[in-house]
Amino acid sequence: MIETLRMQLEALAPLDLGHWPTPLEPLPRVSRKLGRFDVWVKRDDQTGLATGGNKARKLAYLMAEAVRQGADPVMTTGAQQSNHARQTAAAAARAGLPCVLVLGGEPPAAAQGNYLLDTILGAEVRWAGEQPLMAALTREATALREAGRAPYVIPYGGSNSLGVCGYVAAMLELWEQMRARDLHFGSIVVASSSGGTQAGLLVGARALGYPGRILGISIAEPAKSFRQEIAQLANGAAKLLALDIAIAPADVLVSDAYLGGGYGVVSDLEREAIALAGRTEGLLVDPVYTGRALGGLIAQARQGTFAPGERVLFWHTGGTPALFAYGDAALPKEPLSP
Ligand SMILES: Cc1ncc(COP(=O)(O)O)c(C=O)c1O
Repeated sequence: MIETLRMQLEALAPLDLGHWPTPLEPLPRVSRKLGRFDVWVKRDDQTGLATGGNKARKLAYLMAEAVRQGADPVMTTGAQQSNHARQTAAAAARAGLPCVLVLGGEPPAAAQGNYLLDTILGAEVRWAGEQPLMAALTREATALREAGRAPYVIPYGGSNSLGVCGYVAAMLELWEQMRARDLHFGSIVVASSSGGTQAGLLVGARALGYPGRILGISIAEPAKSFRQEIAQLANGAAKLLALDIAIAPADVLVSDAYLGGGYGVVSDLEREAIALAGRTEGLLVDPVYTGRALGGLIAQARQGTFAPGERVLFWHTGGTPALFAYGDAALPKEPLSP
C-alpha cells in the first residue's frame, strides 16, 4: 500500500517547494506540565517556504498544476494575516508566476506580519472590503479573464482535492518516521480551518491503516457542518488518488469547543498556549491557529480526553508571522505559574 500511495502521489508531479521530512520531536517540558502524557510535535512550521507552515505541502501540488496551465496570475484569498496567502505568494515567486491576493477588509495603516511578507514576496494585493472572500476572489478572477488573462484560482486555504494530497503525503511521511523510530501516537491534534490538512491526514491514515485518532481543533466553524466539509474534501482527494476509501462525516473528529470570540480573536486559551510553548520548549505557536489548537490540546488533556501515559502528537501547522502583527495581544495577562 505504501508504494502504491507513493506512486499515486508522485504521478501528480508536485513541485519541490518545501523542506521535508519535517522534524518529529518530543516536548518533554510541555509533557511534564500536563502531567501524564507524552506530547510530541510534528514541525510543519519548518516546511521552509517563506517562514514555513502547512500550506507549503498543499501548494507543492497546486502550483505544479498552475505551472502546467501557464497561470497568469495565480490567485487566492484569505484574511489580512493569511498564512496561506503569504505562502502562495512565495510559491508563485519560486515558480516565476505573477500572484494576485484578495485579502479581507481594508488596507491596514502599516504592513505587518504576513501582509508585510506578501508585499516583500511581490504579490499584488486587492482588498475585499466587506465582501465574502470567495465571492470577491471569483469577481476579481472573472475581471482578469475578461481582460484576456488566464488566472489559476486557488480556493481558500488551498483546500480542494489536489491541495489535500499534500497532507496525504504528509501522513505518509509521518508513517515512515514512526516506523523508523518504532513510535506510535494514540492521538494527533491539529488546527482545522478550511479542513484540507485534516482531510489529507485522514485519507493517509485510512490508506496506511494508522489506528490512532486525528482530532481537529476547529478554528472558526461549528463542528457539525465542518465534519461534512472535511469528509467531502477527503473523499475528493481519495478519488483523485484512485484509493478505495470512503470517509463519512461521523469518521471526522472535530472539536468546536475553542472558538471563543471567533476567528482571530485571541483569548486566554491561546495566550496560555503561546507562553507555555515559548517558555518551556522555545517553540513558537501563533495567535490564530496553532495557539488555539495547542490550547485545545491542553484543555483536552486536563479534561482527561487522552488515556494516562498516551503519546499525543501536536501537528504544528505554522503561522508564526502573525505573532508580529498581534503584538501585545498575544502576551499572557498574568505571569505563568512556575
Ligand atoms: C497556521 C495555520 N494552521 C492551520 C491552518 C488550517 O489548515 P486548513 O485550512 O488546512 O484546515 C491554517 C490555514 O488556514 C494555518 O494558516
